[in-house]
Amino acid sequence: MRIGVLGTGNMADALGTRWVAAGHEVLFGGRSPERSHALAARAGGRPGTLGEAASFGDAALLALPHDALADVLAALGSGTGALRGRTLIDCTNAIGPGLLLTTGTGPGAARTLARITGAAVVKAFNHLPDSVWRLGPLAAATTEGPLAVPLCGDDEAALETVRTLVRDLGHVPLTVGGLERADQLEAVTAFLIGLWKSGHDPRTLLPPFEVVTAGDRAGGRER
Ligand SMILES: NC(=O)c1ccc[n+]([C@@H]2O[C@H](COP(=O)([O-])OP(=O)(O)OC[C@H]3O[C@@H](n4cnc5c(N)ncnc54)[C@H](OP(=O)(O)O)[C@@H]3O)[C@@H](O)[C@H]2O)c1
Repeated sequence: MRIGVLGTGNMADALGTRWVAAGHEVLFGGRSPERSHALAARAGGRPGTLGEAASFGDAALLALPHDALADVLAALGSGTGALRGRTLIDCTNAIGPGLLLTTGTGPGAARTLARITGAAVVKAFNHLPDSVWRLGPLAAATTEGPLAVPLCGDDEAALETVRTLVRDLGHVPLTVGGLERADQLEAVTAFLIGLWKSGHDPRTLLPPFEVVTAGDRAGGRER
């Protein structure tokens, strides 16, 4: 597959490098030619501009700060088409002071991105730090098995493309719903980051699956 990566920072590096290792052709597009060339050389990909990454290949990964999006998309002329109809993977987190979503109670980052660009947006990879995405599947696996990567999107072809890219990292794609569910994934990520930052292991909030679902299996009520 050919993948355009918008950004040359941590997430671009983590995911792009592993996709190159999996045999994909990756173009790393950044606003700084130096950083784009350095990352492409290190990862084994191609350097380019943000615009070139936006229009490159089968899918694009948006690995930029959420608050830079308006400027970047305006510069790309997104309203008229750089990303329209393309598979666009959104790994952004719109998290501000107090670990609150800067998108508030409105549409989340992914839905806004889809509306502005007309792209087939798939929310993915936002819920874990770049240090995890750099790992191989064994190191990233959970005690329950391979790492499941939640995906939200409305376009089946785009979802299938991203499922392939998840499998190529050695993980298991888990399609949880349409793009409206991305709002929840973004909120849950902020919640998880809060727990991790304060030294709490989120796994302590979660009894085994069988325990949580025992009532349902016994014909229990809806929650
Ligand atoms: N890092 C993580 O663990 C992690 C995990 C999940 C999700 N995310 C999300 O992924 C996204 C990227 O995070 P990151 O950690 O990779 O960030 P990062 O390391 O700070 O890299 C950000 C990239 O965006 C570029 N950029 C920043 N402002 C820009 C602007 N106004 N115009 C054009 N380019 C701009 C930077 O370019 P320069 O180098 O030229 O400044 C850099 O290439 C964020 O939305 C973040 O919330 C991060």
